[in-house]
Amino acid sequence: MTDMQVAAALAALEAHRVEIGHRRIVDLFEADPTRARRFRAELDDLALDYSKHRINDDTLAHLLALARAADLEGKRDALFSGAPVNLTEGRAAMHMALRDLSGEPILVNGENVRPAVEAERAKMLAFAEAVRAGDLRGATGERFTDVVNIGIGGSDLGPAMAARALSPFSGEGPRAHFVSNVDGADLADTLAGLDLARTLFIVSSKTFTTQETMTNAASARARVAAALGEAAVGDHFAAVSTKLDLVARFGIRPDRVFGFWDWVGGRYSIWSSIGLALAIFIGRDNFMAFLRGGHDVDRHFAQTPLQDNIPALMGLLGVYYRNAWDYGAHAVIPYDQRLARFPAYLQQLDMESNGKGVTRDGEPVRMATAPVIWGEPGTNGQHAFFQMLHQGTSVVPVDFLVAAQPVDADAHHHNLLFANCLAQSEALMRGRTRAQVETQLRAQNLSEHEIARLGPHKVFGGDRPSSTILYRRLDPRTLGRLVALYEHKVFVQAAIWNINPFDQWGVELGKELCNALAPVVADASASLDGLEPATASLIEARRRLAAG
Ligand code: F6P
Repeated sequence: MTDMQVAAALAALEAHRVEIGHRRIVDLFEADPTRARRFRAELDDLALDYSKHRINDDTLAHLLALARAADLEGKRDALFSGAPVNLTEGRAAMHMALRDLSGEPILVNGENVRPAVEAERAKMLAFAEAVRAGDLRGATGERFTDVVNIGIGGSDLGPAMAARALSPFSGEGPRAHFVSNVDGADLADTLAGLDLARTLFIVSSKTFTTQETMTNAASARARVAAALGEAAVGDHFAAVSTKLDLVARFGIRPDRVFGFWDWVGGRYSIWSSIGLALAIFIGRDNFMAFLRGGHDVDRHFAQTPLQDNIPALMGLLGVYYRNAWDYGAHAVIPYDQRLARFPAYLQQLDMESNGKGVTRDGEPVRMATAPVIWGEPGTNGQHAFFQMLHQGTSVVPVDFLVAAQPVDADAHHHNLLFANCLAQSEALMRGRTRAQVETQLRAQNLSEHEIARLGPHKVFGGDRPSSTILYRRLDPRTLGRLVALYEHKVFVQAAIWNINPFDQWGVELGKELCNALAPVVADASASLDGLEPATASLIEARRRLAAG
């Protein structure tokens, strides 16, 4: 692989884009009626339909050539080998080890980590089951009815997203709550309805230094000590971290501390002990099914030829729109209410991983990288921002996610949900021409003057691309597959752009500035000399308002 080969493959793709840009997706369907069947990839009962894209066989050939030029397969093999692919931190990125249920050795930096992974998971799941069964109780002897995970970013979004997605699988387990924001309203609102005597807190932080998490944990600890006595704290706290020495200093009992490893990135850590709150909520068997789903995708990604490889196709289509079409955003719209937090989860996964401006070698990256990832569940989004998707001046490719059957909802509701999902992707693709609009308005007996006036407002340009991911139902294994598919999609794009998706230096500067500002903000008499003028002016304004 050379930069020149990648540049040549990209140039060929761009030239092809100009050519295919003259053809509408509906025309591509007309030219090839088998398209819906051919542009489809499957993994058991999950399918990616990518027929509603501005692509034909030549496009795919160009994208596969780009993947080869960027040595996607070589980079993928290096990832799975457990080599330190996170170059700036000198670490492997082996979150796949946490869900590898094959029984085979798993090498990370040449060491078989399977025994350690399995031992930690067994300890974590035994704790989860003991809490669910009521064998582990609070200081007053009462069962835990509520579990509060205190964490942020990857130590929050994964378990919070998954607990919501899998709520029908919780059975008799405790309720799960998630506190992340340093805004005290988050903790206060969460604790408002809870009985501390029946509440277990889990402090989740890879580094155990994150300001928000440590602040919330200290406040929660103080609340427990005030309500139940200092001696009760040990019975009401557990922790998940890679920094066991720092956890010990916080005062959490060693048998309630669950570890993981620095080769698990924060946004890839849901599969580790960071999933403890989720495991308590859904139980051991469901948690294992979730891991199994992730592992199934790992095998698919590692072994399937790229033209049938779902994460490879998702990633390459994203590169196509980002780099050949210059589209700056990508929407993920689950027609599955319980996936309400999935877009937020993907925002961290995708934008923290691929929001990079330099290559793995530290050179400025020559291609645009991560698009803005956003979304909300359908059908709600239809009544909010879909106007922009259909008629706005920016084209936003969409991933629609939908189940063939509901987990426990009414069939009538689900039929309507499903029909809405299909209707939206079809409307985005087909659009509505001026001639069609005029015919419709004439049928309503409008005057020619009114037809001319309203016509332009009612035209839909169409040709707006989307994928549909269809799965049987949103169960633990399917959720595991969805998460892992997007993880590998992000990896594929990083491989093409030749960036490191496993570090996140861009979060550092704000943290450092905040640490410096916090004492000045807290002390109303502190000097503002030397601060940025805009910052000083806002602190002054806040002081005036706070004093009033
Ligand atoms: O600030 C970004 C980040 O480092 C994320 O990558 C991470 O998931 C989050 O903060 C939380 O970090 P920790 O688990 O160490 O508290």
